[in-house]
Amino acid sequence: MKMFSGNIEDLRTLYIRNLKKALDMERKITNTLPKMIEKSTDQQLATAFHNHLRQTEGHVANIESLLRKATGKSDTEACKAMSSLVTESGNSIKDTSNATIRDITLIASAQQMEHHEMAIYGTLRTWASILGLAEDARILDSILSEEKAADKLLSSISGEVNLQAAA
Ligand SMILES: [Fe+2]
Ligand SMILES: [Fe+2]
Repeated sequence: MKMFSGNIEDLRTLYIRNLKKALDMERKITNTLPKMIEKSTDQQLATAFHNHLRQTEGHVANIESLLRKATGKSDTEACKAMSSLVTESGNSIKDTSNATIRDITLIASAQQMEHHEMAIYGTLRTWASILGLAEDARILDSILSEEKAADKLLSSISGEVNLQAAA
């Protein structure tokens, strides 16, 4: 395995910057999920979004506490990728009047968001481990597990909603 050979302080700076982006990302999702719940017609989908909203509020609190521990405050840095995903999600919902197609569109948008989160938390967990921050790595890993579970549940709901759309 190639060892990290750069300046560990540079990695620490990068880690904190990306925690700040993760906090912005989670807050954006917290603002978006209530709108997605409102637009859902499938009850199972609305419930899944509702439950993940509660988890997402937990993610906000977790990242805030990791940042406070590292820097003494919980500043954010703009996560432009999540801004784009949220904008695209809003646009694609606007384009659909059929309820089932709108549910499918909501699931597709939500899964894109979950996959972005999974990429971010996989990276942050690895960086925390390299930096010797075992407790951070454990918290980031537990967030990652919740994102993966949310994505998996959306995949299974998607299968059922897609069948309804085809019927
Ligand atoms: Fe999250
Ligand atoms: Fe999520």
